[in-house]
Amino acid sequence: MEGCRICSGKNNIERNDIVAKKIRERFPIFLNNPDKIYLDNSSTTQKPSSVIDTLNNFYKKHCANSGRGSYEWANKVTKEINETRKKVAEFINASNSDEIVFTSGATMSSNMIAYSWALHNLKNGDEVLVCFSDHKSTVLPWINIKNILLKFGVQIKIISVLIDNEGDYNERDLFAKVNSNTRVVCLTHIHNVFGMDMGIKSIIDTLRNNENITFIVDASQSMGHIEVNVQDLNADFLYFSGHKMFAANGTGVLWINPKLHAEIKPFIVGGNDNIKIENRQLKYNTKKIHELLECGTLDIPSIITLANSVDFIAEIGMKNIESYILEITQYLILELRKIDSVEFLPGAALCGCNIGYGIVSFRIKGISSQDVGFILNDYGIYVRTGNHCMSDKNSIEDSIRVSLHVYNTIEEINRFISVLKEVIGL
Ligand SMILES: Cc1ncc(COP(=O)(O)O)c(C=O)c1O
Repeated sequence: MEGCRICSGKNNIERNDIVAKKIRERFPIFLNNPDKIYLDNSSTTQKPSSVIDTLNNFYKKHCANSGRGSYEWANKVTKEINETRKKVAEFINASNSDEIVFTSGATMSSNMIAYSWALHNLKNGDEVLVCFSDHKSTVLPWINIKNILLKFGVQIKIISVLIDNEGDYNERDLFAKVNSNTRVVCLTHIHNVFGMDMGIKSIIDTLRNNENITFIVDASQSMGHIEVNVQDLNADFLYFSGHKMFAANGTGVLWINPKLHAEIKPFIVGGNDNIKIENRQLKYNTKKIHELLECGTLDIPSIITLANSVDFIAEIGMKNIESYILEITQYLILELRKIDSVEFLPGAALCGCNIGYGIVSFRIKGISSQDVGFILNDYGIYVRTGNHCMSDKNSIEDSIRVSLHVYNTIEEINRFISVLKEVIGL
């Protein structure tokens, strides 16, 4: 972050910490709870005033449905939804806003891919490559689809990729598991427990010449942390949660590469604009994929807050956010390393390189993570404990996950470390 009058003369991290404190002022929840330390941003972020104002104004001033009525409020809401779609498309560098589908979150996006695309396109013998150490929402929809297809005599296989000790996909294992039956590769951009950039771009680049494969990317932990460019990534589907990047809860996005639009069928039908009945059959128009998939009344005000969140991120600057989060993640790791009983899970702390996207997971020798979480809660410090929705719960035991964002300060990290030491009895 750039320095200003107040912070000149300070070193980088101190200067950025001052800017983080300024950013905090835009979040009413922190003003209302000065004694709480929120370190669970990977679950959901807190919301700036602009997001809260949008929700309030919608219900107080112009509540209407979108894409239906022709009166002033309805037009305003439709216009705002269209503008939000455009903003989100620009945010991820989609070539057209019609490639953006609004959902209720990453889980809904992932299930939408399974029901709207996979169910209609997977064939006997097809293989789906996932990672059982990824979030359940990237894995379970495939097991579900496998079971549904089986009822219709179609047998597909789910194959899991290994994770190496540093928390990366084991590329040797991954490439060895790709064969002529591989139809889907569904993996994660930044990992929700290990906090690593999983190298998805280079995986897609390596496998892209295999035209049989559809690439699906879960970018839920990347949005609002680093720039994600769907054209550069060259995937087929990419999805994320809006509520993890400052937008209201109940928001998600699914981007669909236009070359797949013709293969999509709606999985919920009703008031979809692009479905007609002809001779008692459903006729689809896949020109505007969102009109096919966004059925019924969505959470309109929450979706509009995606525009606020994109503006908020743009105002701070993605590069500034990325570098600040790197600094505080490294600072947290440094402080945790000083505590002997801390056992890191795979991630930046174990691999030792200068990376960090806010997520650090660890255990304390001899104390259950749940107990640590309960005691931290008593001190007003909120972290996540458990297995963090990892698909294969046997692959990792309970751990403590600290996840930082742009409004977390060095002071908060210091307080967390000192309470943690108290809990351990140091
Ligand atoms: C990597 C990843 N994917 C998917 C999800 C699910 O997101 P949502 O709650 O928006 O469905 C999460 C949530 O923690 C996540 O971390």
